[in-house]
Amino acid sequence: MYSVSAQTNDVEIVQVPLDVNNDFQLQPDKINEALSADPSIKLVYICSPGNPTANLIKKADIQKVLEHPTWNGVVVVDEAYIDFAPEGSSLAEWVNDWPNLAVMQTLSKAFGLAGIRLGVCFTSPPIATLLNSLKAPYNISSPTSALATAALSPTHQAVMQKYRDLIVAQRDRLVQELPQIPGIGRFRGGKESNFLLVEILDKPASEGGKPSNVIAQAAYEAMAEKRGVVVRFRGKELGCEGCLRITVGTEEEVTRFLREIRTVLGGLHKGESIDSVRGQVSQN
Ligand SMILES: Cc1ncc(COP(=O)(O)O)c(C=O)c1O
Repeated sequence: MYSVSAQTNDVEIVQVPLDVNNDFQLQPDKINEALSADPSIKLVYICSPGNPTANLIKKADIQKVLEHPTWNGVVVVDEAYIDFAPEGSSLAEWVNDWPNLAVMQTLSKAFGLAGIRLGVCFTSPPIATLLNSLKAPYNISSPTSALATAALSPTHQAVMQKYRDLIVAQRDRLVQELPQIPGIGRFRGGKESNFLLVEILDKPASEGGKPSNVIAQAAYEAMAEKRGVVVRFRGKELGCEGCLRITVGTEEEVTRFLREIRTVLGGLHKGESIDSVRGQVSQN
């Protein structure tokens, strides 16, 4: 999404990959090197928890970038999924100490209000002034404003937290139960979001299975087309060979997902075609 926005605004991007061998953590020294090499870079974008990696970025690593000795730009931290991370994970308060930090959050995820199109940016007064002067002359629409004000009231925040806790409980359940299904490999990244990134193997791990994009893609298709269980195939992202991103649902949805993926992987590992696996009925 960042690169799409950059392209539509004719902005060049320099990518510094996360460390795929270290739980997709930031590589602050490499970022700082890139910033030293090209002082025309204006913004650094960091997503924490990451998507699709579900991991929190270490605060000390972000601090290293903020402390770059010569670079004079803004560090943006996208915290769209922060409500699913442990209390105290946000960097929002750091904007009081770092005038070059902008922390963004959204009502689209934990509050379930993507339709009102509202987020928030915590930042220092000079950047806030700049953002206000850049925005279109029209303000936030009154329906959006009314819904957001209600959602952020103590009563409705408590509702959000109740649902967040249910999601976290189902996430813990998936962490326990998913690896028991033959053909499920490692979790990649972290477990601090409302989704998990997991490897799909070409055969059960007990038989030496390896992460496979072919099987992951086939499992994704078989579950989506006839079974109504939609996950995301993420096998083409760097370091995500064979990975599906599973959004955590309600207890019933997680039960259904676990049943369907067991059936689908069982069929695919027996060498059945995707078409025949698509049509099979799962046993309860
Ligand atoms: C990492 C990340 N940031 C931001 C967003 C977008 O949030 P919004 O609905 O507020 O535009 C998404 C949505 O998918 C996301 O995954």
